[in-house]
Amino acid sequence: MNATRHVTTLRIALVAAAAMAFAQGPALAAGGGEAIHFERHDWSFSGMGGQYDRNQLRRGFQVYKDVCASCHALERVKFRNLVQPGGPEFDEEAVKALAAEWPNKITDGPNDEGAMFEREPKLSDKVKGPFKNEQEARSIHNGAYPPDLSLIARARNVHNEAAWYIHVPMMVRDVLTGYAEGGPDYIYALLTGYKEAPEGFHLSEGMNYNTHFPGHQIAMVQPIPEGGAVEYQENAGAKASLEQNAKDVTAFLAWAADPSLNERKKLGWTVMLYLLITTLLLYFAKKRIWARVKH
Ligand code: HEC
Repeated sequence: MNATRHVTTLRIALVAAAAMAFAQGPALAAGGGEAIHFERHDWSFSGMGGQYDRNQLRRGFQVYKDVCASCHALERVKFRNLVQPGGPEFDEEAVKALAAEWPNKITDGPNDEGAMFEREPKLSDKVKGPFKNEQEARSIHNGAYPPDLSLIARARNVHNEAAWYIHVPMMVRDVLTGYAEGGPDYIYALLTGYKEAPEGFHLSEGMNYNTHFPGHQIAMVQPIPEGGAVEYQENAGAKASLEQNAKDVTAFLAWAADPSLNERKKLGWTVMLYLLITTLLLYFAKKRIWARVKH
């Protein structure tokens, strides 16, 4: 074999790998090495210039509050964050009232007698879950721990099981399209992935079958049923359904894990524009300075 043939083979391999990468969605290894395919959703915050949809974050918070908060904490989010720009931007008075009514109280103290006590949360307090500690949570959920959801959208991703030579073009594609929504795509697939276990599948006691959870057995019971769990208000911009509730709560969790995305993406474009203008100025300045020098 001569060198030209080597180069040609390499070129063909690279083109084939690139084509496969563009055709294939991300996949996650489940039990037994079997790959699970994940759909890529068109989130409002996807891509280079995406922004959170405030109404969607509001609906998503409602789903978190009415459904997920009975098992999951959200401790990296403070009540006041729900008021700040770039998030659900609720009215401050409404959030104060919400905090005061939050079922999971804050342990504070010691008081003058040296005893700890429970009090209502304030704007500066974190959004607490229902359990005092991990042991209590595990004892109720068949030994499984419902994780704090503050960073879950960043802590999960869709891992690709493709062959090594496909990874590089896939990475290039993700960089070019600004893809960073593996976590939300996973959470949405998890929430909508509850199905009857197929014939012959051994489901342990107290576990539930899920098409997108690695190993297909999850201790969390289906949190949002078919038809949806949370009705929205008339002016909320969407109707309740499993898919809509799941999409909204996923977007809300994406915000919780990355609350400054709106600001960051806006700033990115301003910086690009600034660099472009600077480049033009430098170019014309250079032309002028060198204009009278003969080459
Ligand atoms: C009845 C309690 C309960 C409710 C309600 C609940 N969860 Fe869970 N959740 C759990 C438990 C238990 C686990 C741990 C599962 C395991 O490890 O098998 C879990 C795990 C998770 C995980 C992590 C899965 C992983 O990859 O490890 C996510 C994400 C999640 N829940 C999201 C939600 C969302 C969003 C809601 C609300 C729509 C919700 N949960 C409602 C009990 C609950």
